[in-house]
Amino acid sequence: MGARRNNICLIGYMGSGKTSVGRFVSDRLDMAFKDTDEMIETLEDRSIPQIFKESGEPRFRELEHELLCKLSEGDTLRNTVLSTGGGIVMDKGNRPLIKDLGTVFYLRAGADTLYKRVGKGAGRPLLDTDDMYKKICDMLILRGPVYEECADHIIDTDELDIAGAAKKILEIWRTIV
Ligand code: S3P
Repeated sequence: MGARRNNICLIGYMGSGKTSVGRFVSDRLDMAFKDTDEMIETLEDRSIPQIFKESGEPRFRELEHELLCKLSEGDTLRNTVLSTGGGIVMDKGNRPLIKDLGTVFYLRAGADTLYKRVGKGAGRPLLDTDDMYKKICDMLILRGPVYEECADHIIDTDELDIAGAAKKILEIWRTIV
């Protein structure tokens, strides 16, 4: 692994604001913006729900891993804010790849906040369940410590809107670069 690259990686649960906050930050810093879900959808020419339905979650996880490997090759990802799918860190092999790609910010939020933010869970196959609140709580128990372990910086977003969370990231980023 080489020196830390000049990218920002955003991790966190579904609804934590990775995509909106990521776009905001990339605009402010004049950086590119990429989203692993969007990249997978483009590569596959299928939506995330379609991939889950037609090929299953394990195939989606392989696609996430393959994408991260590709992004890690050489010096392909530069000056980019990378928003990642909420489950990407659960593959142990992905953790060093993400850490090596850039400075990792975890957009943390509690279950109540996330529940409100994901609305009906549309477009998110893992939230297609009768008791979405319980699903979020159960998944957070498993995932919370992993997000924390992967993060260089944790941004608590329960009380923040998109601009507020972005501002926190920008403040930290300016002390790094
Ligand atoms: C997932 C999160 C989604 C997407 C897929 C699985 C997860 O991305 O990758 O539906 O396992 O948490 P977002 O976090 O951008 O919603």
